Amino acid sequence: MNESMRPELFNQLVRSRRSVYPNQFVKGRQIPDEIILQLLENANWAPTHKRTEPWRFVVFTGGGLNKFAAFQSQAYKESAGISFKQDRFEKLLNNPLCASHVVSIGLKRSLEVAIPEIEEIEAVACAVENIYLSATAYGIGGYWTTGGVTYDENARTFFGLSEQDKLLGFFYLGYIAIPSAPSKRGPVEEKISWYR
Ligand SMILES: Cc1cc2nc3c(=O)[nH]c(=O)nc-3n(C[C@H](O)[C@H](O)[C@H](O)COP(=O)(O)O)c2cc1C
Repeated sequence: MNESMRPELFNQLVRSRRSVYPNQFVKGRQIPDEIILQLLENANWAPTHKRTEPWRFVVFTGGGLNKFAAFQSQAYKESAGISFKQDRFEKLLNNPLCASHVVSIGLKRSLEVAIPEIEEIEAVACAVENIYLSATAYGIGGYWTTGGVTYDENARTFFGLSEQDKLLGFFYLGYIAIPSAPSKRGPVEEKISWYR
């Protein structure tokens, strides 16, 4: 164990992590790209079976946010048909613009190593938790969303993914104007069985 680690500080960090949504962000305040890179560097240290490192990220910021917003709102417009809702369309168009950065969360299937897909999903989810925890450490808000074009099979190529890959959603990031209230969880004891 690293002697310089303070477990009680880490426990506090993990337990104070919250999802912070775009309407809680400071609109227009940019997070330095260097900090985003640190978040993604930590994501890159997630556990990964056979070291396939399946996570892939596309970072949208500045004018890139407009491109992302236009893409996901237009894709919705084209696919919604009679269930089209104007307020949903506007949310897809406007929400990204509240963020400093939006990161697409991709899963790249390995061509060399055969790993069950579920294990690659698990690895990417670990990477996303690293982003969540790193954002908390930097005092930055963010959340993982599986909304928008996440499950639209035609959307993958926009995020640098191929047919066999998967899009697992988006991580929105911004400085916090309105903090999330502390959360709660049911007792962990109810989720553990011990055999001694
Ligand atoms: C795989 C995954 C997908 C999620 N997708 C959404 C989403 O589409 N929209 C949303 O508002 N929150 C989404 N969330 C965030 C959860 O709503 C949030 O984690 C939950 O409310 C608990 O709050 P906390 O993160 O502050 O503890 C997602 C979380 C996970 C793990």
